[in-house]
Amino acid sequence: MGADLTTTAPPSATDVYALGRDPGETARLQRQSEELGPDSAALLDRVGLRAGQHAIDLGCGPRGVLDLLSERVAPGGQVTGLDADRHHVALARQFIAQRGLRGVQIVAADARRTGLAAASFDLVHARTLLINLPDPAEVVTEMVRLARPGGWVAGLEPDLASGALCYPAHPAYTRIWELFYAAAGRHGADQLIGRRLAELYRQAGLRDVGLEARARVCPPGDSRRMIAPDLVRGLHPTIVRLGLADQAELDALDRAVRRHLADPDTVVMPHLTFLAWGRKPASPQRSSQ
Ligand SMILES: C[S@@+](CC[C@H](N)C(=O)[O-])C[C@H]1O[C@@H](n2cnc3c(N)ncnc32)[C@H](O)[C@@H]1O
Repeated sequence: MGADLTTTAPPSATDVYALGRDPGETARLQRQSEELGPDSAALLDRVGLRAGQHAIDLGCGPRGVLDLLSERVAPGGQVTGLDADRHHVALARQFIAQRGLRGVQIVAADARRTGLAAASFDLVHARTLLINLPDPAEVVTEMVRLARPGGWVAGLEPDLASGALCYPAHPAYTRIWELFYAAAGRHGADQLIGRRLAELYRQAGLRDVGLEARARVCPPGDSRRMIAPDLVRGLHPTIVRLGLADQAELDALDRAVRRHLADPDTVVMPHLTFLAWGRKPASPQRSSQ
């Protein structure tokens, strides 16, 4: 494929990813790929990826949308998955080997400075990557640089403050989200990133920008029903280190929230999900480099 696979030395995962590489977080990301599949498929249908094209998934994690991209660009297309965490890179390679996905390669690099050749992809995609980064515009700028003129940039991000609905309310649920915002916020991550995607895309020079919000009530058995305690579990060491709560409180909150969410009468919509897409202008503008 056209992309130069020379990469920048990736930073450590904990430098870039507040939730780190704890095994629970890796398992959550694998389930996330199943559960966000329909939303991601809807987003990819918006940009009309075709056979023979080249696509990249930035911050692909252990799986990302590699399978969805691969089936859309086949036959003859190429897919690159990129992640800064070497453990996720290894798992993504394992995933493509297990699935027998052809024309898919995984590189270890920082999505903010990939070192890949400019204008080499028909689609540059990132899902739940920007929400982890203090300066999401840096990645969007890199996404636009990587897209070919006339190509697409697309992303899916949650907006955690817009829809954390739990009925009936429970003080442990409220407290666990407070701790999440406080701990994840220390890394500068923007929990409102979903609603800002279209603005970031336009500011980076994209045209034909679209934005769609999706809401999902998670029934019992759906792992996203437990996303609040799952995310916070991955942050326990950070929360204790920052003095936001001690381990005894965290364990008690975890039990109380899981018990409340396990009740089939509890209604849970953990967040809104925003899908955004935009096209790089075909003629040189400020977005091309
Ligand atoms: C929430 S996970 C999302 C994984 C995948 N996109 C998905 O939706 O299933 C965020 C991923 O971004 C990666 N990541 C965080 N910061 C990064 C950076 N600066 N460059 C590349 N990858 C990064 C993390 O290692 C992690 O795999």
